[in-house]
Amino acid sequence: MSPIAAPTGDNKVADWLSHPVAGPVVREWLTSQGASERSLAPAKRFTFNKLIKLSGGRFTQDMLDQMMAETARRMVDGDAVPVPVDDAPAESVRHAPVEAPEWVEKVTDGRFTGKTVVVTGAGSGIGRATASRVAREGGRVVALDISEPRLKEFAAEHDGLDITVVTADVTKDEDIAAVLEAAGGRIDALANVAGIMDNMTPLGEVTDEVWERVFAVNVTGVMKLSRAVIPLMLAAGQGSIVNVASEASLRGSAAGVAYTASKHAVAGLTKSSGFMYGPHGIRVNAVAPGGVATNIGETLRYDSELAQERLETAMAILPTPVTPDQLAASICFLLSDDGVNINGVVLPSDGGWSAV
Ligand SMILES: NC(=O)c1ccc[n+]([C@@H]2O[C@H](COP(=O)([O-])OP(=O)(O)OC[C@H]3O[C@@H](n4cnc5c(N)ncnc54)[C@H](O)[C@@H]3O)[C@@H](O)[C@H]2O)c1
Repeated sequence: MSPIAAPTGDNKVADWLSHPVAGPVVREWLTSQGASERSLAPAKRFTFNKLIKLSGGRFTQDMLDQMMAETARRMVDGDAVPVPVDDAPAESVRHAPVEAPEWVEKVTDGRFTGKTVVVTGAGSGIGRATASRVAREGGRVVALDISEPRLKEFAAEHDGLDITVVTADVTKDEDIAAVLEAAGGRIDALANVAGIMDNMTPLGEVTDEVWERVFAVNVTGVMKLSRAVIPLMLAAGQGSIVNVASEASLRGSAAGVAYTASKHAVAGLTKSSGFMYGPHGIRVNAVAPGGVATNIGETLRYDSELAQERLETAMAILPTPVTPDQLAASICFLLSDDGVNINGVVLPSDGGWSAV
């Protein structure tokens, strides 16, 4: 028998929740925030330190410090319940699932050396992680986003790497022209990552406004920038385009009708373009992410009771969300020459969700 140590920021959320003293501290804190344990379910496999990094300010170091202090106080006061750690029967040890070690990014030095890569949505989440990895692997990155502050922060974090930032809206022709100008006549690869969610409404409730904005960014923006880049790739006889689709491009149970239809359109655009340009040395593929902890979650809202009931039931099978750099690993594989023989695919990067 030995007492359980107090968890720290290096412990997973799941460890905190199962701790006899820290568990109640977390639950009380969630209640004080008007939330429940369920809201932490997607983050259970993250350490609290990682959660702080990924939460975009919603969870802070200060909050963690307070929970650690409260846990320590209660343990001193005798709330800790000693539990046996060594006395578990051999049978249960044999069948206990082993927790997978945390994934660590391994940069491939020079994979993008000599290449100019345009990345959209580079100010946040998956686009930012993709632009970062390409730059750290030697590429020249033209990073664009509609948000200037996010781009500035990204550039400051990557000081010394070959990054040109362009504040641009992918739906606007003049902004696309500015991106092409910044690239300077050569684009080896393009990652169309920028995208927006809908408000989770089914067909009978979707508004024209939501439909049009979601299609403008998620589909028309991808088409416009790719269309502008294709002539450069044709002239070079090579190129790689990776579009970010979604689990919603594979199934009807991951979002509202506008987002789902837009991501199905991205899948179609990808396949058509891969088919058309494959013989000219241009590969066009898509990655379909499952849940990823990014800022897109901030805009997630259910404007339909019907959709909420249907989607929340379906999403009970969702694998644990991953971090943006885990998606960047899939995107960079297809963007790079490592994807040499892959063209026209929509590759799920979803921890197996699409296999269900
Ligand atoms: N996060 C997920 O769980 C998830 C799952 C499936 C697919 N995706 C897709 O991944 C892509 C990236 O999303 P994320 O989760 O990293 O979101 P995010 O919100 O963290 O990042 C998206 C970025 O795109 C930018 N952007 C939005 N509209 C733009 C426009 N018109 N022009 C230029 N930039 C614009 C935003 O400013 C933001 O910085 C999206 O296409 C999204 O649909 C995300």
